[in-house]
Amino acid sequence: MTTSVPFALTALQHPAVSALLDAERALLESLVDGLGSPLHVVLPEIFEENVAALQATLHDVGVDADILFAKKANKADCYARSAASLGIGIDVASAPELIRALSGGVPGDRIGVSGPEKDDTLHALAVQHGCLVAVDSLGELRRLARTATRARTRVRVLLRSRVASQPRSRFGMAAEERHAAVLCAAGAEFVELRGFSFHLTGYCAAERAVAADELIDQCLDARRRGAPSAALVDIGGGLPVRYVDPPLWDAFVRQNEPTHYHADKTFEGFYPYGGQSANEALRAVFTQPVNGRESLSARAAREDIRFIIEPGRAALDQAGFTLYRVQQVDDRRDTDGYAIVTVAGSSFSLSEQWFNSDYLPDPVPLSVRPDADALFPACVAGSTCLENDLVTWRKVGFPRPVYRGDHLVYLNTAGYQMDSNESPFHDAPLPLKVVLRLGAAGTAPRWQLDRI
Ligand SMILES: Cc1ncc(COP(=O)(O)O)c(C=O)c1O
Repeated sequence: MTTSVPFALTALQHPAVSALLDAERALLESLVDGLGSPLHVVLPEIFEENVAALQATLHDVGVDADILFAKKANKADCYARSAASLGIGIDVASAPELIRALSGGVPGDRIGVSGPEKDDTLHALAVQHGCLVAVDSLGELRRLARTATRARTRVRVLLRSRVASQPRSRFGMAAEERHAAVLCAAGAEFVELRGFSFHLTGYCAAERAVAADELIDQCLDARRRGAPSAALVDIGGGLPVRYVDPPLWDAFVRQNEPTHYHADKTFEGFYPYGGQSANEALRAVFTQPVNGRESLSARAAREDIRFIIEPGRAALDQAGFTLYRVQQVDDRRDTDGYAIVTVAGSSFSLSEQWFNSDYLPDPVPLSVRPDADALFPACVAGSTCLENDLVTWRKVGFPRPVYRGDHLVYLNTAGYQMDSNESPFHDAPLPLKVVLRLGAAGTAPRWQLDRI
């Protein structure tokens, strides 16, 4: 029997989220009981605050940059509407995402289309609406050029490069193919080469800065080869989000071991839950010397380069949470040392669980019940027939026993967790999203379904 006390990995909470959980418990409980568990609560005002903070950082470091919100990180329409009202753009990777961005009010010329080897339908829509298309290969460029020629409409393109630090990426073009693509774009009547983009796995700001610096070289080279408008460098997303305090995270990493998880489960790695914040990383990308030379912002100003950033997760930091209703509690404390709390719904509504990892910030009970003298160690399971359907593998130390009918809050789930992996498994309907508008202090929040 495992008797160790569970590690408290307390999730950071935006003050508005804390206020909601404290003051609006009855509303939240009635929403999840009435609309179904799990229920995703989305908070567009916090998204808007995050975008403003990123804009302030960009202004502070002195770079010209456009923000395109990476739509794949959350399907809710409210964020597209917020993007439209803020005047920022959207990065889409499919025809349905493009259509949703347009219907949210974002004009086509502020939409970037990324993703590998896009199909002809998406190309045609992008051409028709004047989007900026990041092209992944020479073959894709040729197809897009044919579509633009048929429509007699000039299409703006970025070429996606495979950067030196990740030569085995399946995305983008290595040097030889990229050179051919530059010549092809420069010679095509209905193609305007505007710059370059890359895909980088990971959250290292220094690596992103080096990759962006490579792309400045590529813009300069393209200008020499007959593409005078090559002036955009798209550094993609990859701005990290801080879910827990860094010292707490470091302590967690030091003491982490398989016995802390249901069935002694082991994981290959975790998201860096307590690393740099998005704005710290953004500042580092642009202001730190690159390869011991000048910073990206200094070089870009000299070479007349404009940047694009495509934050998904970072734009959604704290801009939503997920509520689950507890369906059953299997108290195995006497035999195994912990309980299994089964919630209505599944881990498909918490995507991290399907990347051989665990969503680590502690879920919190939404409750007025007083804390008990001892912690209640429990992992959290979904109510499907899959042995691996664990919403939290880690044994969490709840402040008091959890009972059927309680509600658990998973904090900060808007960025990728909510809906990337949801499926109608067991014929279950897809969980709903409720938009909560916080309004002015002292007024009650207003809610509506995200899609009616
Ligand atoms: C082209 C592109 N842009 C933006 C993003 C968003 O990244 P993040 O959510 O880490 O900001 C991704 C993520 O895969 C991407 O592939």
